[in-house]
Amino acid sequence: MGGGVVVARPAAPPPVRVRRNAKNLQIDNPIMDFYAKAIRAMQAKLIADPTSWRFQAGIHQYNSASDPNASSTDVLPSAAVQAEFWNRCQHNTWFFLPWHRMYLHHFEQMILGHVRALGGPPDWALPYWDYGASPADAALPPAFRAASLADGSANPLRIADAERHPNANTGGSFTAPAETSAADALAETLFSATFPATSFGGGPTGFNHSGGNGRGKLESTPHGSMHVAVSGPGGFMRNFTKAPLDPIFWSHHCNIDRLWKVWLRQAGRTNPDATVTAWHTGTSFRLHDASGTPVTMTCSQVLNTRSASLDYIYEDEP
Ligand code: C2O
Repeated sequence: MGGGVVVARPAAPPPVRVRRNAKNLQIDNPIMDFYAKAIRAMQAKLIADPTSWRFQAGIHQYNSASDPNASSTDVLPSAAVQAEFWNRCQHNTWFFLPWHRMYLHHFEQMILGHVRALGGPPDWALPYWDYGASPADAALPPAFRAASLADGSANPLRIADAERHPNANTGGSFTAPAETSAADALAETLFSATFPATSFGGGPTGFNHSGGNGRGKLESTPHGSMHVAVSGPGGFMRNFTKAPLDPIFWSHHCNIDRLWKVWLRQAGRTNPDATVTAWHTGTSFRLHDASGTPVTMTCSQVLNTRSASLDYIYEDEP
């Protein structure tokens, strides 16, 4: 085309970040290599810092007696900060899925900040562990059991053998199909129902850290069953305080979050509609953004993962 005509084209929107299947990502893949280095950077921060590894685990639950990193020199967050931000994980409730989505999102943003600062992939996203796809997929993904990073340093994605099932760090089998399968959960037609009726996502409750009878099918299996399976008899993953200290926690929960989207793609499945304000906006949750600033969120803000604020999809989405 002569004449020097320049045709202006609208800038393409930035591509949404893609959460990838961890089975294909070896430890020297930049997604895993920078993830490991970012975790190391979070682990170097003190527990009172909301962007530290230990504070982030405390959000799920904190109990110094079961904290494997507890030390006499710890300066914990103030009682007021603990009361506001710790012991927040939502279980046995219809908030199980949206709350864990919020939790993963804020953790992911903290990791993403470190990944970018270290020169890693600018579109980095958490990897997921799809243990239900086949017996081979139920083995711990390779990067979570590699002894070292490409530079020879210890791999923070791997934790001590004793803190996982004896076969986990060796790449062996440690599950039965009944523990890995989401089939029963995906067969549920309702997102929420009141006990004793069953549902995919859990029964209506207010803020509910634990206890009660509002557990949805997905929270039981494969969520709960895989927590127990990968932890072995006494590992981190079966304990609310220790679970987020095993990096596989975040990829397990990505898979649970992905399964929510798989469920919604089936005919006739929907989230509670907007008239169910108790679920959409009735309970707010406090977390911290990547700079450590407190944020308040409700379920209504996390229902579209392609929104500008969440900005992710899963690799297997159509
Ligand atoms: Cu709040 Cu898998 O747990």
